[in-house]
Amino acid sequence: MRPSLASLLLGVALLIFSASAERRIGAQALNTANGDELQPRRGSRKQLLEWEPVSTADGGPGDTFVPQGGEGSWESGGDTGIIMIHACVMSKGDVVGWSARNMGLQEYGSAVYNATTRSYKQLLDECGVHDCKNSFCGAQTTTAKSEVLIFGGHADHINWFRSYDHGTGGLWSTQMTSGRWYPGVATLPDGKVIVVGGVADSGKAGYHVEDDRSVDNPSYEVYDPIARKFTGDNWEMSEQLAAAFPIHTYPHVLLTPDGGLAVSAGKLMVKYARTGPTTFAKTYDYPSRPGAPWSYPQTGVGALLPMLPPYDQLFFLAAGGTSQDRAKVGTPASDAAEIIELTEGPEASWTSVGPMPYPRVMGDALVLCDGTIGIFGGAQEGLAGWSKVARNVDYGDGTSWYCEEKCSKAEVEVFEPTIFDPATGQWSEKGTLATMLRPRLYHSVAVLLPDCTVMMAGSDVTNDKTAEIFSPPYLNKGPQPVIVEAPTVVTAGTEVTVPYMSPDPVQRAILIRNAAVTHSMAFDARALWLEVVSNTGCELSVAIPGNRNVLPPGMYMLVILSDKDVPSPAQIVSIP
Ligand SMILES: *[C@@H]1O[C@H](CO)[C@@H](O)[C@H](O)[C@H]1NC(C)=O
Repeated sequence: MRPSLASLLLGVALLIFSASAERRIGAQALNTANGDELQPRRGSRKQLLEWEPVSTADGGPGDTFVPQGGEGSWESGGDTGIIMIHACVMSKGDVVGWSARNMGLQEYGSAVYNATTRSYKQLLDECGVHDCKNSFCGAQTTTAKSEVLIFGGHADHINWFRSYDHGTGGLWSTQMTSGRWYPGVATLPDGKVIVVGGVADSGKAGYHVEDDRSVDNPSYEVYDPIARKFTGDNWEMSEQLAAAFPIHTYPHVLLTPDGGLAVSAGKLMVKYARTGPTTFAKTYDYPSRPGAPWSYPQTGVGALLPMLPPYDQLFFLAAGGTSQDRAKVGTPASDAAEIIELTEGPEASWTSVGPMPYPRVMGDALVLCDGTIGIFGGAQEGLAGWSKVARNVDYGDGTSWYCEEKCSKAEVEVFEPTIFDPATGQWSEKGTLATMLRPRLYHSVAVLLPDCTVMMAGSDVTNDKTAEIFSPPYLNKGPQPVIVEAPTVVTAGTEVTVPYMSPDPVQRAILIRNAAVTHSMAFDARALWLEVVSNTGCELSVAIPGNRNVLPPGMYMLVILSDKDVPSPAQIVSIP
C-alpha cells in the first residue's frame, strides 16, 4: 500500500509523487509542514519516504504549497566585521566566521558574531583562526568540543590544516600530506575526519584547467583529532574524482548508515565501504545525477533529508546548479531537483522533485527547525567565481553596487528563499516568502541559528560585511515551545529527558547538526527525527540513536515542536 498525497502538476509536465504515509515517531502521527496529517501505517516498519515518479517529463511548474504562518520576514543582522566566507555555529550558538580578502589588519580576518546582540568581535589577533596560514577556500567542520577543523586553503598555505578551540582560544596547525583547495570533508563515526579531493594549486578549478591534470588532487586523507595526525594520502577514490575532473571540487562526502561514504563529484556518485580505520574501497556506482555536472563552479545545492527511526534509510536532495556543461556568464541556472535514496544500493535512482520555483545556481541549502529544507541566496544565471568584468549588482530594494574588480560571474540574484517539504515533495510557491535586501552571491553563507532563524552573510562581490536574518513562517504559526533545560553533553545510545513549557501539545523532536559552511557546501550537515519515548506534557524523553554512522560526533541543535509544527528555540548539545 502506498497511500497518500498525489500531487498533480499542471502544464507540460504531469508528475505524480506519493509520499508514503508511514511516518511515525513513537505512537504519534506526524504533521507535514503544510498541515496535512499523515496517518501512521498500521503494522509496517517505520519508514519515511518513497518517491514514485509516474512521469518524468520536464518543463511544467513544480508542485507547490503556500507556507502556513505567512511569508516570514528578513531583518538586518548588523555588521559581521568581515566578509563571512566561512561560517560555523559553535556550542553557545555564536558564529565563528572568517574571510581572507585584503582588509588591512584583518587580512586573514576572523570574527565571532553574536546573533542575540547582532554584533561581532574580532577573533584572536590578525592571524585569526588561520594561525596565519591563509585558509581561504579550504573546507571545515566542527567537533563535539566546539573546535573548528580547517583543511587546506590558499596559495602557499594550500596544504595546511588548523584546529581552533573556541572554548580556550587555542590554535594548532600542521601540514597535510598534499595541497587541497576546495576539498570535501566529512566526520566519520569514530570522530576521525576525512578530507577528499580538491586541487593542489589554488585558483585552478573549472573548465579552464581541463588541459592541466597536474593541478588535480584526486586523493583523500584521514585526520585523527585525538592523535592529531594525518594518515597520508590514499587513492581509492581517484578513479571517480579524476573522471569528474575538472568539475569535481567541493565534492559532497556523505556518511551512510552502514559506515561507508557516498561521494558526489561532477555528476558522478560512488559508494565506498570503509575497509580500515583510514581506508575506503569502491563498492558500486550510483547512477549519475541527470543534467550538467553540479560541483563547483557549476554549483548546485545538496542536502540530506532528515532521517527517521530506525535510521536505515537516507535520502539526498540535489537541487539546481547550472543548466549546461561549460557554464559561462549568462548561462541559465537549473531549476531541476532530484532525490536519491542512498541506502537503496546500486539500484538507487534519481527521482525528479522539480522543477523548483526558481532556477538557482550557488544557493545555500539547510535543514530548518521543522525538518523542511530551506534554500537561500544565489542567482538565476551564470556560475560561481569572480569575473573581471565590472558590473552593477542589484539589491532587493532597487539600488545597486558597482563592482569594479573580482565581480560576480552569476547574475539575476534570487532574493526569495524556497522551502522544500520532504514529507510531500512540494516547494513553497514563488512569491510566498519574504525577499531579502542583499544579494548573496559568491563567497556568502547561510546558517541556521539556535532561535530557528537563518542568518545569511558574506558575498565578496559586493564586499558585504553584514548579516541579514530570516524568520521562517513557522515562527508565526503559534506559540513556540521552550526547552527549559537540556544537558550540554549527550551520550549516543541513551535517552534524554528535557523539561519544557508549551501552550500547545509537543509532539516531535529533531536533532540538526550545527552548520559548518562555505561555497554552498554544508559540511557534515544532517538531521534526525528522534523517537519520543515518553511525554508527560511537561517533560519529553527522546532516544538519541546509538548508531554513530547516522550520528557522527559533533554539535547538534535539539529542537522540540508543537502539534502546530512550531519549533522551540534549539538547545545545542555536544555528542562526543
Ligand atoms: C551573546 O549575547 C548575549 C546577550 O548579551 C549573551 O547573553 C550571550 O552569552 C552571548 N553569547 C555568547 C556565545 O557569547
